[in-house]
Amino acid sequence: MEMPRAAILGIGAYAPQRVMTNLELERLVDTSNEWILERTGIEERHIAAPEEAGSDLALKAARDALAMAGVSPGELDLIVCATVTGDMPFPSTACYLQEKIGAPQAAAFDIGAGCTGFLYGLHLVQHLIRAGAHRKVLLVGVEVLSRVLDWTDRSTCVLLGDAAGAAVLGVAQDQSGILATNIAADGQKGELLHLPAGGSLHPASHETVDAGMHYFKMNGRETFKHATRNMGEIAQQTLRDAGLGLGDVDLLVPHQANLRIITYLAKALEVPMEKVFTNVQRYGNTSSASIPLALTEAYGAGRVQKGQVILLVAFGAGLTWGSAALRW
Ligand code: UT7
Repeated sequence: MEMPRAAILGIGAYAPQRVMTNLELERLVDTSNEWILERTGIEERHIAAPEEAGSDLALKAARDALAMAGVSPGELDLIVCATVTGDMPFPSTACYLQEKIGAPQAAAFDIGAGCTGFLYGLHLVQHLIRAGAHRKVLLVGVEVLSRVLDWTDRSTCVLLGDAAGAAVLGVAQDQSGILATNIAADGQKGELLHLPAGGSLHPASHETVDAGMHYFKMNGRETFKHATRNMGEIAQQTLRDAGLGLGDVDLLVPHQANLRIITYLAKALEVPMEKVFTNVQRYGNTSSASIPLALTEAYGAGRVQKGQVILLVAFGAGLTWGSAALRW
């Protein structure tokens, strides 16, 4: 018997109201609008209000995804939250979201796979649905990275932003759905992108705080190299698994870390930029939220049409990378 296919039934996204421009950053650190634009393409990013936690952002994105799917919170049997900046180390942000959204029938847990978190989640959830283990799943990517940035470090603080994106998944009702997913990791290169303290290795102490070990750290140049290569390879693998070629792709929605990485990737894959969705200009890198935020905006702009092939690809801390091919 052929397994059912999983499909995205609804999507939604939310970014906090406060917008921080490059000009504002010029007043904080030794940087310039020109440098940020030229090296990253980023013009502005959204920053959560002090009282807004990850689960609050997630709630807003999730409500829109549920409304689009026509699914009520009570029907959910699983909530998966991809995040590395959850409300607190435990309990999971997914459990907070379960309570806030009112989904008592749903099991709930978080996954941490850096900026690839949403695609790790999509891989996991599609297989759970195909196996018949779950029927209606809420998958959220949410980050409040502004809380873990060193606002005196120009090499990182200009790059990131806060947001949430959500998808409701269920059994596909027609030819649409998730055609193939792939995920991968290379733990040897974990130090390229990490937040060293606050866990069991370096528990929070005055010393770790004084040493700035609770801040996001990245070796940008090295990360850049691995990002372009690994995303290209896994995207091609996913298309092959789906029985498709690059010419079949109607829209490429890559992780939004840097416009230069996206341009490199599109060139390497020979996908014209007209078929690539970008919004890193307005949000910066929102890590786990980036793909569902971009997909939601692409859909809102009419760039995702019924029957089209959408290719998603991401890369992040771990190192991790992943890809998904969908027929909308
Ligand atoms: O989402 C997870 C994956 N993350 C990524 O994919 C990020 C990958 N990396 C990148 O996007 C880029 O490497 C960055 C945008 C982070 C940096 O761009 P780059 O072209 O690789 O610059 P760089 O780090 O090589 O730095 C070039 C110069 C340095 O000065 P010197 O040593 O050449 O004098 C930096 O000190 O730019 C300097 N610099 C800045 N100058 C002004 C670094 N940050 C800034 C800044 N403003 N904000």
